[in-house]
Amino acid sequence: MEGHGAYNRNSQVQASGIAPAIGSLEDAARAVPIGSGAAPLVVADYGCSAGRNSLLPIGIAVRALRERAGTSRDISIVHNDLPNNDYAALFDLLANDPASYLGHDPRVFASAVGHSFFEQVVPSGSVTLGWSSWSVQWLSSVPMEIPDNVAIGCSEDAAARAAFARRAADDWATFLRARALELRTGGRLVVVTMASDDSGDFGYRVVVAAINKTLRELAETGFLSETEVRRMVIPTYGRTRAEFVAPFGDSARFGDLALVHAELFFQEDHIWADTGEGRDAETFGARWAAFSRASVGPTLALFLEGGTGDPRRTEFLDRYEATMARLLAAKPEKSLMPLVQIVLEKRGAG
Ligand SMILES: C[S@@+](CC[C@H](N)C(=O)[O-])C[C@H]1O[C@@H](n2cnc3c(N)ncnc32)[C@H](O)[C@@H]1O
Repeated sequence: MEGHGAYNRNSQVQASGIAPAIGSLEDAARAVPIGSGAAPLVVADYGCSAGRNSLLPIGIAVRALRERAGTSRDISIVHNDLPNNDYAALFDLLANDPASYLGHDPRVFASAVGHSFFEQVVPSGSVTLGWSSWSVQWLSSVPMEIPDNVAIGCSEDAAARAAFARRAADDWATFLRARALELRTGGRLVVVTMASDDSGDFGYRVVVAAINKTLRELAETGFLSETEVRRMVIPTYGRTRAEFVAPFGDSARFGDLALVHAELFFQEDHIWADTGEGRDAETFGARWAAFSRASVGPTLALFLEGGTGDPRRTEFLDRYEATMARLLAAKPEKSLMPLVQIVLEKRGAG
C-alpha cells in the first residue's frame, strides 16, 4: 500500500465493478439466519484496503441486518487485510466520512484484523456474512518469475502459466477452507473479484502493455536495473468461472461450503466511456495510470533492489504513473474487464 489514503482516491474502477454484486450481498443479508439471542452479528470484509469501496456494500448489509434484528442488536464489522495495509486511512474514513456506516447506527462497531486471508482471521463459527471485493485475485506469493511479461494473464510462457494456475487453484481452496471455518452455519460469503472469460482472456491488454513498456523505458533510462525489471511480477491471477467452481464439483459442495451462485460478468470500461471513447486521450491516460499506480504500483515497488526501504520508491511511483499516462494517452483503447461474483453458504454443523 502506498499509504495516506492513496487507494481510496484512485479506486473508482473497482467501485463500479462491485456494483452488480452488492445486490447479492443485500440478498445474503436478508437470507442468513440471525437467531433470536443477543450475540453480535459479525460481518467480515476480506481485503478491505483503505475502505472506501467497503462503505457502500457494508452499509447496505448493515441496514438489511438491522431491519431484521431490531435496533438493540450489536453488529460487528471486521475489516481484514494484510498487516502493512493503510489502516490509518481506513479508520479515518470510518470515523469522518459522511458515507461511513458508523455514522448511521450507534450499535455498529468496526475493527480490523491485519493477517492474510489465506489463514483463518476471525474465530471459528463467528461470521454471519462475508464480503470480499477485488482481492481474491491476489496470490499468496509469486510462484516463479514470468520471463516475457509483468502479468501472467498476458504471458505466452507455458511453464509460468501452469505454475500460476496451480498456485491460484491451491490459494482458492485455501481461502475457501479458512472461510468455511469462520462462517456460522447458514452464513453466507459474497466474493467479487477479477477473472478471465471462458476463453481464458484476463483483459486489460492495453494497460498491461503500457506497464511492460513503462518498466522497459525506466530501465533504458537507467532508473531501474535489468534485474529489477526481470523480477517485477504482478502476483494476481484471473481465474475462469470454471476454475472458481472446480473445487465444488458436481455436488456444488466443498466441505461445508455450498456454491449458491457463480457468475462471470463484464464491467463496462467507464474510463473509455467517460473520455469520449478515446477523444480525451490525456484524461484516459491519466485515469488508467492513477488506477495502475494505486492497484499495482506499491507491489512493483517491492521488487526494487532495496525492497520496502528503497530510497527510489516514491520517485519510482511518480515516474511509473507519468510514463503510464503518456503511453496510454498515445493510443487509447477500450479494455475487456471480466469479473466474477460467487455466493457461498456454510452448511453442515459448524
Ligand atoms: C484492489 S484492493 C481491493 C480493495 C477493496 N476491497 C475494493 O474493492 O476496492 C485488494 C486488497 O486485497 C488485499 N490482499 C491481498 N492479498 C491479501 C491477503 N492474502 N490477505 C488479506 N488481504 C489481501 C490487498 O492488500 C489489497 O488491499
